[in-house]
Amino acid sequence: MKNLVSRIVLTIKRRETPLADFIYRLAKGLRSFSLPTVKPLHLPLYYLDRGLHEGLQWLLHTFWWSPLFRARCEVAGKNLRVPNGIPYVVGSHLLIMLGDNVTIQRSTIGASRVFDEPVLRIGNASTVGYGTVISVAKEIVIGDNCLIGPNCIIMDSDDHPISPGKRLAGEGVKPEDVLPVRIGNNVWIGSNCAILKGVTIGDNSIIATHSVITKDVLENCIYAGYPARPTVRDIDKLDVVKEYGGEHGIPT
Ligand SMILES: CC(C)(COP(=O)(O)OP(=O)(O)OC[C@H]1O[C@@H](n2cnc3c(N)ncnc32)[C@H](O)[C@@H]1OP(=O)(O)O)[C@@H](O)C(=O)NCCC(=O)NCCS
Repeated sequence: MKNLVSRIVLTIKRRETPLADFIYRLAKGLRSFSLPTVKPLHLPLYYLDRGLHEGLQWLLHTFWWSPLFRARCEVAGKNLRVPNGIPYVVGSHLLIMLGDNVTIQRSTIGASRVFDEPVLRIGNASTVGYGTVISVAKEIVIGDNCLIGPNCIIMDSDDHPISPGKRLAGEGVKPEDVLPVRIGNNVWIGSNCAILKGVTIGDNSIIATHSVITKDVLENCIYAGYPARPTVRDIDKLDVVKEYGGEHGIPT
């Protein structure tokens, strides 16, 4: 039966007979059919769709996602927002401590098995963007007023051992290879960045999109690249340049 169906489908796709060619063109025409848009009709319907969607999101957020996720946290301050649903938390031993006015878009927060009580702390008024993964073996601290962009990864260990044999044996990382991550206050991390183990990011600094942070980041700097380095274009943006001059590899 499966062979017969595959044979017929291939005959049509290859347009091997006049009938197959007709069916092929008919199916293609149907697939590209679309209703003409009547703006006075469809625009109000668009806003109706958006309004219903927003209303449903509000109901879900207020009566389901926020209270349930708040219950999962050790501490959660006021006005916790999880606008796209409950973050996916892996590891029931992970302690999550959140300040006031924290927003976490749909993200993954995972804990490895190395330590008994790994901790994720996020300070007041900080936001974690959509698709970001925070992988905690021991401790990751994000300060106040931070903006963590979408699709970032923040991790305080490499998650897997370097040794091929240990990976095959399913071993985890050693406790001494876990190095906590500290992100200061008012730090802006652009989209798709990786913040690797042991890194401290100084207050007010910016990490440009798609950067990989492997070493500490000074306060009040913009870092970019792979691995990230300090960059300066507009000197007025960065008081630190006046302070440090050309030290620490900061271009002047
Ligand atoms: C961090 C950022 C805001 C800095 O903007 P800026 O100060 O205007 O930076 P500039 O465009 O002047 O770039 C300065 C230098 O850094 C380089 N640079 C900037 N972003 C970079 C990146 N992501 N990777 C590598 N180099 C980068 C530029 O090429 C330039 O180098 P040059 O002086 O040799 O020409 C910007 O780079 C950025 O990442 N924007 C996206 C933020 C984001 O992800 N938002 C999503 C929502 S959170």
